[in-house]
Amino acid sequence: MKVIGDPQKLAKITRQISCKGKSIGFIPTMGALHPGHLSLIKQAVKDNDIVVVSIFVNPAQFGPKEDFKKYPRPLKKDLALCRKAGVDLVFLPAEKIMYPQGYSTFVEAGELGAKLCGISRPGHFGGVATVVAKLLNIVAPNILYLGQKDAQQAIIITRMIKDLNFPVKVKVMPTVRQKDGLALSSRNIYLNNEQRKQAPVLSKALSLAESLVAGGQRDAARIISRMRQLIEKKKQAKIDYVAIVDLEKLESIKKINQSCLIALAVRIGKIRLIDNTIISV
Ligand code: PAJ
Repeated sequence: MKVIGDPQKLAKITRQISCKGKSIGFIPTMGALHPGHLSLIKQAVKDNDIVVVSIFVNPAQFGPKEDFKKYPRPLKKDLALCRKAGVDLVFLPAEKIMYPQGYSTFVEAGELGAKLCGISRPGHFGGVATVVAKLLNIVAPNILYLGQKDAQQAIIITRMIKDLNFPVKVKVMPTVRQKDGLALSSRNIYLNNEQRKQAPVLSKALSLAESLVAGGQRDAARIISRMRQLIEKKKQAKIDYVAIVDLEKLESIKKINQSCLIALAVRIGKIRLIDNTIISV
């Protein structure tokens, strides 16, 4: 496994690989790798000749009051996990390499980026789209692997790839969870014992929604209200949003008579957690 910090050097290597007719799978990450990330890597190893993982805590996607500085960076452990998982190349750029002095070009996520998580995190998805566009240009993979855990991110990146004509296929992999339903996230380590006990309420609310739909309920407002009631029982839980939206434009829907995304963001204490499920009708 090679660890490379220089974008030009990595771009040269990946172009040489492609010239030989080998396929490249790419997993962008911010590190603090857990089994969620590893499931994407595993799939990429299965599908491709060469697997590239990037580890870069992207300042452009953090708000001024967010956790950029204290975001976990267990680099040694991450590299060991990548090596064990069969990653060929790790791209590990420094911040000043990705955003040197004078950097001024940004991708905007448009209306999709202003909805759901974009309401409380303005600019976040523009920062995500910008770094993923840069990474795609550097790595030039055949397949990009994303997690369903970040459903809005996956939808926005898929849209960007279409809109900006990136010649890459996207695979969105299912959310990996702990036994009690909590979706794995690098931020779960911030939860104290009591908060950790309350955190599965996000997935429990989604399961409730799924069973209501399975039982014939089609009224989105009623489902949302039941989900909110369940979450509000937890003392430390503060709802950011609970939404039922279509999968293309992320616009709220009233009646569930099409496939849709049920998504929520909840603060447990100060820690903001997200989760979602797709309902196929
Ligand atoms: P990060 O949070 O490190 O996640 C990297 C990838 O892993 C994303 O595609 C995310 O959806 C996926 N992932 C995270 N938790 C998961 C889980 N429990 N199950 C399945 N997949 C999971 O998302 C980012 O980084 C950044 O925004 C990035 C795309 C790298 C741009 O900076």
